[in-house]
Amino acid sequence: MSYDLVIVGGGRMGAALAEGLVRAAWAPRERLAVIQPSFAKREALAARLAGVAVLEALSADDVGEATGAILCVKPDYAESVARTVAATGVSRMLSVVAGLTTARLEAAIGRPIPVVRSMPNTPVLVGQGATAIAGGSHVTAEDLAWAESILGAVGSVVRVTERNIDAVTGLSGPMPAYLYLVVEALIEAGVHQGLPRDVARTLVVDSFAGSAALLAASSSSPEDLRAQVTSPGGTTAAGLYTLERHAVRSAFMEAVAVAAERSRQLGR
Ligand SMILES: NC(=O)c1ccc[n+]([C@@H]2O[C@H](COP(=O)([O-])OP(=O)(O)OC[C@H]3O[C@@H](n4cnc5c(N)ncnc54)[C@H](OP(=O)(O)O)[C@@H]3O)[C@@H](O)[C@H]2O)c1
Repeated sequence: MSYDLVIVGGGRMGAALAEGLVRAAWAPRERLAVIQPSFAKREALAARLAGVAVLEALSADDVGEATGAILCVKPDYAESVARTVAATGVSRMLSVVAGLTTARLEAAIGRPIPVVRSMPNTPVLVGQGATAIAGGSHVTAEDLAWAESILGAVGSVVRVTERNIDAVTGLSGPMPAYLYLVVEALIEAGVHQGLPRDVARTLVVDSFAGSAALLAASSSSPEDLRAQVTSPGGTTAAGLYTLERHAVRSAFMEAVAVAAERSRQLGR
């Protein structure tokens, strides 16, 4: 029996993708498989993903002409796993492995199948990620649409050239961490002003989630939304002036630039 899609690695990313694909009815459950070597994790996944095959390893019998694979393993052993998976005959491969270029993946696979590289971020774990994809040297428009349909099950997807994956790795990859730092700082600011910690936390976390929802629902730009809450000579204007004086805007630009450069270094 061959599967439409095989998720290789049932860790955090692989399990989130499998759940998203089931939720989105991307394919009937029995057409999906997850490869997960360790027994305990396999048992837990089978309970979480009823109807989806959870296998110890992939064999050629599981693979038909149209079987695609998603590589969701750690970067240190991703190339050797890709080689083993490709040897079973999968027709194309989507990788979520950070820092692994399509050229290295193609070399590891050793035969000319389409590979798509992606850079997701952690909100995919709750189906609200933002992912960029880039195709390797054998991809067609159909392969990119295939990858987009998979990652679209756990959030939004944009297409970039592979050269820009490092910029994505500096921007949306670490963005949850950047924003959590801002949230932490604002909670401390509330406590500093005398608010009980739990009150400060509720106010900051809910304002953060609410502001994101407002931005997503609105056709206005972030600048317009900010202007709407900034009365001339008012409290928000005073607070924003202080942030500009401390160069918060250029601090973020520098953080993204440094993180993107680090990604370039790691990829070399
Ligand atoms: N988590 C994120 O937010 C995030 C964001 C962007 C990109 N990524 C990328 O996603 C990839 C996976 O990350 P993760 O956080 O999901 O890691 P993870 O939780 O460690 O998952 C990796 C899984 O692969 C399994 N595995 C090990 N050897 C295997 C093999 N030969 N065949 C099949 N499965 C095998 C591991 O099983 P055992 O535990 O039993 O060894 C584990 O369950 C990484 O390359 C990372 O760069 C992750």
